[in-house]
Amino acid sequence: MTRESWGTRVGFILAAVGSAVGLGNLWRFPWMTAENGGSAFLVVYLGVVLLVGVPGLVAEFVIGRRSERNPAGALYRLSSGSKSWGAVGLFGVVTAIAMLSFYSVVGGWILRYFFASFTGSYFGSAGAYFDAIGFGLPAAGFHVAFLGVTALVVLGGVRDGIERATTLMMPAIVVLLVALAGWAVTRSGAGPGLSFYLDFDAAYLRANFLDVLGAAAGQALFTLSLGVGTMITYASYLGEDHDLAFDGSVIAVLNTAIGVLAGLVVFPLLFATVGGVSGAAAEGGPGALFVGLAGAFSELPLGRVLAVAFFGVVALAALSSAISILEIPVAYLVDEHGIERRTATGALAGLVLVTGSANALSPGLFTVVSGPLVDLMLTAGLVGFLLFVGWVLGSDALAEYSTGAGRYVRSVGPAWLWSVRTILPLFLLATLVANLLALAGVTF
Ligand code: PHE
Repeated sequence: MTRESWGTRVGFILAAVGSAVGLGNLWRFPWMTAENGGSAFLVVYLGVVLLVGVPGLVAEFVIGRRSERNPAGALYRLSSGSKSWGAVGLFGVVTAIAMLSFYSVVGGWILRYFFASFTGSYFGSAGAYFDAIGFGLPAAGFHVAFLGVTALVVLGGVRDGIERATTLMMPAIVVLLVALAGWAVTRSGAGPGLSFYLDFDAAYLRANFLDVLGAAAGQALFTLSLGVGTMITYASYLGEDHDLAFDGSVIAVLNTAIGVLAGLVVFPLLFATVGGVSGAAAEGGPGALFVGLAGAFSELPLGRVLAVAFFGVVALAALSSAISILEIPVAYLVDEHGIERRTATGALAGLVLVTGSANALSPGLFTVVSGPLVDLMLTAGLVGFLLFVGWVLGSDALAEYSTGAGRYVRSVGPAWLWSVRTILPLFLLATLVANLLALAGVTF
């Protein structure tokens, strides 16, 4: 059986951007920014994306294209059959299942808000509405619906399913988001929101640098879909003519632009209607988007139309990311166990139906899985992939990096490999330790 592949270069880039652009940009990014001093966070975050995110992305691409395999098979084969490296790859497959188990619950909420926006049923009682629908059987039901759509696309395969769907979805997301941002920033009362978001707050940064750095690092990995093996899997369907570093940079720039754009929608709206982020941020994670914005829409003329457009964008973005998460374990079953795509997708959807429902029924479980657990797993996973590229592949990695690359990109190859071997894993390990200490309640 010949292995599947992307139809076009643009198709691959859009699929990867589709993976990157998701709840991370539209849901997590605004509230991380709000909780970490606004613009101060933005600056550090951009730095981490550039210095850690892009090289990390390229490292995953190198593994994927060289091996033409899912993460577990890739590390196992490229290390000439090392079980330990195979286990590192398998860890990514397990992380993917854990991630999808919470991601699909949030996807279900979005779906529900999308439909509820047509009638405006949460208008007027945004907080109470979220409290009522967030967890429980209906939340599990919407999770299952979201998962079902995700599985249908993955069932269609790489070219006819994933590539076709994401090529349609990405332009729609950008057009809607640009229109929403254009509208939001020109509202009267948008000014304070924009300056909260975009003015540089050096004093805040100086006082909280380590916290901001840790949060920015976690966010950068999450938003670029790093550390699970999504980008390994997507690159495994690539041909040799791609310039991996160039494509990686394009993907990171587009992803960042869409995140920044989302902020331009969210902050002016929150400041112009509900008077700022404090109420939203106090809600913690989910509240920032669901309660804050839902409240904002109810204050606006044409609020329903705007709400439908906004939650439509978020739903599409979440779907294109969920697809890329489910594709990891599917590729694993197809590659390593010779299971048909259809059976593999069905079996995994069945599994996540159960694990996701557990999250939908238990707020406590959801909080642990969606926050610290996934953060730690992504960071640990990426450290593993980087060490693998730097120390096991070594010069082979450089050869793969250079294949299809232009002259300039090739000239920075050695610097890339060096950072992948040394600084990047050290930096990530430091954030890992800092996060563990923070979890254990140690402050410093
Ligand atoms: N990048 C996605 C987002 O921002 C989440 C994701 C993480 C997707 C890891 C795939 C793998 O929502």
